[in-house]
Amino acid sequence: MEKKELQDRIRRLVKEKNAILLAHNYQREEIQEIADLTGDSYELSVKASRTDADIIVFCGVRFMAESAKILSPGKTVLLPNAHAGCPMADMITAQQLEGLRSQYPDAYVVSYVNTNADVKALSDVCCTSSNAVTIVNAVPAKKVIFIPDKNLGSYVKKFTDKDMIIWNGYCPTHHHIYPEEIKLLKEKYPDAPFVCHPECRPDVVELADKVTSTSGIIKFTKEDPHHRFIIGTEEGIMYQLRKNSPEKEFILASNGFICPNMKKTRLEDIVLALEKNQYEITLSPAIIEKARLPLERMIEVGAVPSAR
Ligand code: 13P
Ligand code: SF4
Repeated sequence: MEKKELQDRIRRLVKEKNAILLAHNYQREEIQEIADLTGDSYELSVKASRTDADIIVFCGVRFMAESAKILSPGKTVLLPNAHAGCPMADMITAQQLEGLRSQYPDAYVVSYVNTNADVKALSDVCCTSSNAVTIVNAVPAKKVIFIPDKNLGSYVKKFTDKDMIIWNGYCPTHHHIYPEEIKLLKEKYPDAPFVCHPECRPDVVELADKVTSTSGIIKFTKEDPHHRFIIGTEEGIMYQLRKNSPEKEFILASNGFICPNMKKTRLEDIVLALEKNQYEITLSPAIIEKARLPLERMIEVGAVPSAR
């Protein structure tokens, strides 16, 4: 079936089933084109908690769909491709977090939303890349266990006097972009600010003119007067950048800046998801109850973009 036919079919099914289609900024262009809402992890989790649709179709990766289920337990949440996971989220288990908690009993656990539901259930508060600095500074303890991203953790550390114990996880997509490639691009395009995601390595973040979440990057490049930008995050964001600032030029920091998991979902999967109610996110009531509090605490504190 042609792209347009699939897209029309999805929109018809979404309407018939009183569903909502959420898509992360890294999703394939043809999915972002027909989503009810696109955004970063924070925006999508807030939207998921406030929708009155019966079904949330989450085009992203599993931890995002799980967060939607935790915040809207009465709704059906579908992840159209069951294999769309996040390798960084799998870098810490609930058992490992239990170990950390007993090693540092007076520490407050801040977990990046890129964690599995059972890990969230053992956390005190969640954060996303758009509010990590604000959240860490707001915690009622001097000592903070920050999981799982060591790169986001070391970025936050620059803006806080909290004593941070940082887990050794990382995003394989962002971690394998190196400062040498950025330096070459900066030489080639000296007029272009380098804007990157805080999941990048510290020596890459060091070179950035702006560090922020995916939606923060879209907003910054729209409002900033420069005409050309070097972009340090996953290539799916290019669709939103071009849509929001058609007159500007965007240079992706590396051709290999691709998250394979974010690319697993295709239009065909969404059709099947809506027709067959698959793949439904199911979590135990105990996990939902425990994981809800850290997510709600994060939403209460709100999203104040990380400054730089
Ligand atoms: P954002 O919250 O900035 O959209 O990032 C999510 C993510 O998975 C980045 O790799
Ligand atoms: Fe996970 Fe990295 Fe993909 Fe984001 S880009 S979903 S952190 S693997």
